[in-house]
Amino acid sequence: MKVTADGDFGEWITVGGNRFYPGYIIKGRQKRLMIDAGINLMGPAYITSLEKIFGDKNALDYVFATHSHFDHLGAIPYLKRKMPHLQAGAFERVGALMKKKSVLDLMTFLSDLQRGFFQNIVGEEDVRIEPVDFEFHLKEGDRFDLGGVTCEVYAVPGHTGDSLAFFIPEIRALFAGEAYGIPEGDKDGHVQVEFLSSYDDYVSSLEKLIGLQPKIIGMAHMWVFTDDDAAGFLKRSLEATPRYRKLIETYLDAANGDIDAAVQSMVKKEYDEKGTMMQPRESYLQNLKAQVRHVAQISAF
Ligand SMILES: [Fe+2]
Repeated sequence: MKVTADGDFGEWITVGGNRFYPGYIIKGRQKRLMIDAGINLMGPAYITSLEKIFGDKNALDYVFATHSHFDHLGAIPYLKRKMPHLQAGAFERVGALMKKKSVLDLMTFLSDLQRGFFQNIVGEEDVRIEPVDFEFHLKEGDRFDLGGVTCEVYAVPGHTGDSLAFFIPEIRALFAGEAYGIPEGDKDGHVQVEFLSSYDDYVSSLEKLIGLQPKIIGMAHMWVFTDDDAAGFLKRSLEATPRYRKLIETYLDAANGDIDAAVQSMVKKEYDEKGTMMQPRESYLQNLKAQVRHVAQISAF
């Protein structure tokens, strides 16, 4: 099934925040882990969820980020201010990135574009994205025993160089940010392909995720796939990837290899005219530029 990311998924998983920016809370008997926390404006909503689920707004032990985009870890500084005992984890370089002013400024800029929608969540809270420490520099093979369930870490580069997947083997639940793309909001099950840092790595990572045979997949935004639809989604995502590369090549061809012109005509046709994508336009545009540049390079335009 494809269902919205709301409420409980079995005994061990509850969605924190809301379906647009779900923080997947894994309720181990000893440790509580939230996977992804973004954007920063959602911070107070995650705390509200903790109080609702556990009757305790300090109930979290770990927060892990699937990758370094603002809509996946932007709320970590806020959560750490609220819960000083909270331990954060992400791929090694993310700790350094989250100390760079230029990176934090860009995250703040992208998030402020959406501030109007979040005013009722933010209220008077201080949700600033400030430099933050990551206690865990996560890598493939790391395992966290949460009590009754385990969180396994896999490296899945391609969307970004620092993308990680978190897999709970006892219930075959998988959380990998955008390493497997984004389902478009149409009925035909199209997948928006999300390789930004490397096409080849993205394909290999997808193959690795398929090998895990997940029964539950928590998407970065909006959706959870269960049972046969989990495998079906990953298969569609893998099939869509070379198709999407071809599509970018077509736009580059039509623009005689001019990257900016290809981006402009693509955003108009694929985003504005189709209107099926859930992602905010500015984020889509940032990602598209990276993709077109990358394809221009690997396809020798
Ligand atoms: Fe992302």
